[in-house]
Amino acid sequence: MLAIIGGTGLNEFSEGEVVGERHNHYGYTSAAIVQSEVAGRSVCFLARHGNPHTIAPHQVNYRANLWALKQLGVSQILAVNAVGGISPAMVAGALVSPDQLIDYTYGREHTLYDGSDDKLEHIDFSFPFAENLRGALSRAADSCALPLLDKAVYGVTQGPRLETAAEIDRMDRDGCDIVGMTAMPEAGLARELAMDYASLCLVVNPAAGRSDRLITMDDIHRVVDTGMVKVRALLTAALAE
Ligand code: HPA
Repeated sequence: MLAIIGGTGLNEFSEGEVVGERHNHYGYTSAAIVQSEVAGRSVCFLARHGNPHTIAPHQVNYRANLWALKQLGVSQILAVNAVGGISPAMVAGALVSPDQLIDYTYGREHTLYDGSDDKLEHIDFSFPFAENLRGALSRAADSCALPLLDKAVYGVTQGPRLETAAEIDRMDRDGCDIVGMTAMPEAGLARELAMDYASLCLVVNPAAGRSDRLITMDDIHRVVDTGMVKVRALLTAALAE
């Protein structure tokens, strides 16, 4: 089964029934998981920041979320992430399917191998995003005539504050094209649980120092409102594959 993890601007996907438990040994999931039929296919939806949106990126219980999805038989995850644009092609409103990431987060519960049992595995994470799902996103984008940039490095910062201009310059030098706060530890935990994971990003602002204006939540919300319409269309097309 496939799951969608919705980010900022995507707190619900389609009406359905609540499934699974909100509590597991990692704690509470961000929200109830809703299962529905979309394009003839069963899909689970989980609002990463809760519904309504109240949980900050560093306070999301990523382990509880991923564990709960795994228990429901989810094997594939399409995650939606709002991001800032660093490299010139990553303009506000652009849709991006990153193929790489750099993790700048700290202090998050980022692994299932936490010493609570005797298990330890060093998972391969050379290519953090699943090519089969990235392919599905690209085909879906073509079928909806929506441009999708499919090569980008996603730098994951701790937040919740946005970055300084110098931090963005450093991330640029590191090779980051976009910056967000939520792909990690989510993608790593999905890999530990042997679930395919891909991210569909909506660029909602030029990153710090990448435009002549300061970043305002009003500007971000304007882009989110129009952009999430495209994200929904693309996800629905991907489910119809
Ligand atoms: N930085 C980090 N995370 C973000 C941004 C940003 O500029 N925009 C949306 N999420």
